[in-house]
This record gives sequence, C-alpha cells and structure tokens, in this order.
Amino acid sequence: MAGIDYSERIPNNVGLSDNRRLQRALEDWQPKFLDWWMEMGPNGFQAKETYLRTAVSVDAQGWAQFDYVKMPEYRWGLFLAEREPGRTIGFGDHMGAPAWQDVPREYRGVLRRLIVTQGDTEPASVEQQRHLGQTCPSLYDLRNLFQINVEEGRHLWAMVYLLDAYFGRDGREESEALLQRRSGDRDKPRILGAFNEKTPDWLSYLMFTYFTDRDGKYQLASLAESGFDPLSRTCRFMLTEEAHHLFVGEAGIGRVVQRTCELMRESRTDDLRRLGGIDLATLQRYINFHYSVSLDLFGSEISTNAANFYTMGLKGRFEEGKKRDDHRLKDTTYSLNELDGDRITAREAPALPSLNERLRDDYIADCQRGLDRWNQIIEKHGIGQELRLPHRGFHRAIGLFAEVKVSPDGRVVSEAEWDAKKHEWLPTEADERYIQSLMQPVTQIGRFANWIAPPARGVNGRPIDFEYVRLA
Ligand SMILES: [Fe+2]
Ligand SMILES: [Fe+2]
Repeated sequence: MAGIDYSERIPNNVGLSDNRRLQRALEDWQPKFLDWWMEMGPNGFQAKETYLRTAVSVDAQGWAQFDYVKMPEYRWGLFLAEREPGRTIGFGDHMGAPAWQDVPREYRGVLRRLIVTQGDTEPASVEQQRHLGQTCPSLYDLRNLFQINVEEGRHLWAMVYLLDAYFGRDGREESEALLQRRSGDRDKPRILGAFNEKTPDWLSYLMFTYFTDRDGKYQLASLAESGFDPLSRTCRFMLTEEAHHLFVGEAGIGRVVQRTCELMRESRTDDLRRLGGIDLATLQRYINFHYSVSLDLFGSEISTNAANFYTMGLKGRFEEGKKRDDHRLKDTTYSLNELDGDRITAREAPALPSLNERLRDDYIADCQRGLDRWNQIIEKHGIGQELRLPHRGFHRAIGLFAEVKVSPDGRVVSEAEWDAKKHEWLPTEADERYIQSLMQPVTQIGRFANWIAPPARGVNGRPIDFEYVRLA
C-alpha cells in the first residue's frame, strides 16, 4: 500500500483504477493541468533536464527517488499517507467517533471551502515564482526552485483529488476554477492576499519559502488532524514534502546572512552595496515585510469560522494529538492582545474563537527558531548585530492591528511617525531596485552569485558542483 503505482497514467496509491468515474474525471483534468503548467509554470526551462526527486512510496524513510526529468514530464500523482486502523476523531463535538471516510453531509460546504482555500495557494506560488529561473544565483538554487514548483503542482493534485473524489459535480467545478484563477490578476485573483503579491527577486523568494510556506506548514498540520480521514492522510504526506520548502528558505537566508557577514568582515563596513552584498538592515526590512504579510494569513484573532471548524472536527490545533486537555475547549480561555487607546494589552478570551491566534502563536515561535540560527551565524563572525522578528502588530492588514500603526518594537505610533519611519521598516523602492540589480543569472556549474554563500552540501549526496540543471 505504501508503494506507488507508476504504471498508470496518474501515479497513485489510492487504488485509482478501481474507481472508473474518478479515474475518468482526473484523466480529463490532467491535460488542463498541463496546459496551466506550460502557461504559468517556470518560464523558459520546460525543456531542460532537472535533477528532481519524485515520490516512490509514502514511507517516512526513503520515499524519494532522484533523477533527471523535464518538468512537463514530472510524474504528478496522488499520494496519501497510510491509513491508521481504528483512527478516531481527536477533538470537537465528535471526539472519539470513528474518523469519517466520507464527507459528513452537514459539513460539506465548509469542508469544500477549506480544501479549495488550501488548494488555491499551491498553483498561486508557482505563478508567483515563474520568472525567477531567469535570474538564478546558481544551478543548485535553480534546481531547488523547480523542485518546489513541481511539488506545489503536486499539492494542487492532492487537493483536486479530494474535490473530485468526494464532492461530485461541485468538486469538479472547483478543480477547474483552481486552474483559472491567477496570482495578482485583477479579475480572477487567487483567494488569499499574500498569494497575489509579486515574488520579484530571489531574496523575496527565499523569504517567501521561509515565512509564507511556513504558514502552509501550520495550515496543513491542523488539517492533518481533521476528522475527515482522506484530508488528514493527504495533508500528512504533503507535510513531508513541505519540509524541503522550509529548508530551502531557512538555509537560503542563512547563506545570504553568511555571505553578508563575510563581506562585512573583509571590508570592515556595514555598507555592502558597493560590494554587491545585501546589508543586514535591508535583510531586516525584507523580514519585516514577509513576516507581517504571512501573519495575516492566519486570519483575525477572533473567528467564529475557526471555532466552527474545530467544533465540527474539521480542523484541529497544531499537534492536537500531543495536547493534554479536553480537546473541546468550551470552558477554557486563551490570552489575546487588546488595544487600550495607544497601549497594547492582553486579555483572556474564550478559547474556541481564538484558535487562529493560537495557531499564529505556534507559527511565531517556529519563525523565531530560524532567526536564532541566523543570529548565530552573525555572532560567529564577531558582529554585534541581530535580526529580529517585528512585533506581531507591525504592518498588519487583518484583525485587531489593522486599525492602528505599530512599530517593529511594538509601540502604537501616529500616522506621522509611521510615514516618517516606514522606509526604515519596510523595503523601499531603492531597496527593491538594488536587489533587482543583483539578480544576474549565474549558471556555470558550481558557481554562486556574490550575494549568497554556497550551501554546506549538495542534493542527495551529490557535490555542490554537480550539474543540477542541464541548460546546454
Ligand atoms: Fe504546498
Ligand atoms: Fe510549499
């Protein structure tokens, strides 16, 4: 069961050939997906051979195989984590009942919306990143970009499988619509704000994979707790793929920090722009931006939707199964921020409608771990500076803090102070122009752009100077 059948047109471990109706629906969707991939996938590299991993089993160990593939020939398929015998619902009103193998009728609309919202982010990020290949800092980085792109494509397949298998005709309509919306399009935008932002350069992309893909990890982890078992199993396997995306972001920014520190030490100056490096102040502004737009993805502090998803047993907390409480949360509270004039205070709020904030708190703690590791790199170079996460109220467009302006250090500030300081806090046009000026492609084997250090090791035991993408 853990093995994946690659003899079929759509590789899968869901017994697709036993379900003719579903097989036909997905085989009908497959060429439309490919059309979308050719139109909106990585621009200019579709005919190049890339050293990619493909899932060959869903076992925790050794699930992947690596080989050269042209991206349009990538074997996108349907892979679910193995079924846990006797699994029961772990939270909410149905706690203790057997996990649902079919969609509970009364939750059909809500569940479909959850799946569509998750599914929509997957092709959106491919669209956002489609021009980056032209300015890659190395073949190693180019390959990692394409690996992420094909896997986001696979995540779209994962959600489309659920829609087609469990939601009948409206599921099929949603599957089509997922291929029709476009990131940043005025008439048919993607559903969530951060997925309509541009990813114009590699620094933004590394920040995106660190901060925004990490939102994905937390959403997937809470859907992996779902009482709807097919969703849970789908998300559990997606999380194993997502880990690589987060690695690319964390290690990538770490390599930028590394290079920045080397240049600072060599030149004894903070002003790295003459040297073609990215100074820490610019990095901090990019962190401030990407972190704050990613915080918005968790939604409002108080949300009846979040409470309902939980009570219905559709979306749990992060690591729900490891928590030692009643898993119903009707009589408990959670600490939330509150605005008292221009002071940010805290209050205890009912736990259920506060679930977005709780997930955001888990996310923030996780983000901080990467910052700590980047700061260790800075410290190792004997440089007395630090990168920081801005206050959660900084630059927010959703929830409590959307009403006010908050500085990175957590003060509510006047419009006048915001306007005077925002160029110190957020990337400026000059920053963007400078970063853009660094985006010169480096495609010689084993070479890296000046603004980023090489990685500690290559992919799958290959050396750093391996031909990760065959451009010739
Ligand atoms: Fe994804
Ligand atoms: Fe991802």
